[in-house]
Amino acid sequence: MTKIRINTSKPYDVVIGKGLLENAGELIANTIKGRKAVIVTDDIVNSLYTEKLTASMAKAGFTTDVFVFPNGEESKSHKTLIELYDFLSKKNITRSDFLIALGGGVVGDLTGFAAATYLRGIDYVQIPTTLLAQVDSSVGGKTAVDIEAGKNLVGAFKQPDIVIADTDTLATLTDDIFTDGMGEVVKYGMIWSKSLFELLKTGKAKENLEKIVEECVDIKRQVVETDEFDTGLRMILNFGHTLGHSIEKFYNYKGFSHGKAVSVGMYLMTVIAEKGGLIETPLSEELKACLEANNMPFTSEADGASLFNGAVNDKKRFSDNINLIICREIGKADIVKMNINDFKKLIGE
Ligand code: GLY
Repeated sequence: MTKIRINTSKPYDVVIGKGLLENAGELIANTIKGRKAVIVTDDIVNSLYTEKLTASMAKAGFTTDVFVFPNGEESKSHKTLIELYDFLSKKNITRSDFLIALGGGVVGDLTGFAAATYLRGIDYVQIPTTLLAQVDSSVGGKTAVDIEAGKNLVGAFKQPDIVIADTDTLATLTDDIFTDGMGEVVKYGMIWSKSLFELLKTGKAKENLEKIVEECVDIKRQVVETDEFDTGLRMILNFGHTLGHSIEKFYNYKGFSHGKAVSVGMYLMTVIAEKGGLIETPLSEELKACLEANNMPFTSEADGASLFNGAVNDKKRFSDNINLIICREIGKADIVKMNINDFKKLIGE
């Protein structure tokens, strides 16, 4: 078991290891004062892990209720959020009680946002069960729901009280969901760690999962401790996301998952930046080889207009400028502020 302390405005631990679900109650009892919790989860994760978590919570002296919603991005909506608020109210959840997000990114983001807003803020615990959630979304306090205009457009910063990443849960992921998380993992290699990237090039991620989760969380720690509220350095975590979000939107958020869209987004941005003379020593071929070694895509059907329109309507736009994240060498990222007309030319639109 490894503990990584995240020193943000509210410091907390990310605990990583095998079999942690069984000890979750004890870990939470050592962190949180309240003794009543609502576990928020989706229908797939519910059938796999809620029983184990509930038993562990009961053993540690907690009472729990469970709120379950259908798996998938469509549930990250105001509709589910209102249903959750109503559930919390019916269960008489007070400011001394807390929420537990048990699941992937959708569960974590929605639960976090409910915790940030219900009764003007209650405690919450993240128990991420997907690779994507363990290496990225459960750490750093970004919470949100989607609206018609785009993903994560309504949200808040709300750090959890503890993150418990049981790496055993990664064994039940489908290849698709696993690959999804690998998009974020390759991103960490590209923006921060050449040695992680070299490991990923071997295509042996599954054999090194605990080490990979630890390294990614430690990178995220360094980034969010420097820039908790996403006004500077934290933007580098968006490498691949600007075009990635356009690709997700092009496919109507169905059939091309976030991690796969990020995978294509990283490659396209690197190719475009190379063509536009923003990168001196080309590295897109090396990135492509790494993506291929991990069965991740590097192309999509999204056309230039869709890529451009999706990117400039994204929340990363500031007035007439957009912040592009570009890796000029492996293991290092730069934030390049660009006028949207110049970006249009760069993208070939
Ligand atoms: N997932 C990007 C961030 O936490 O900033």
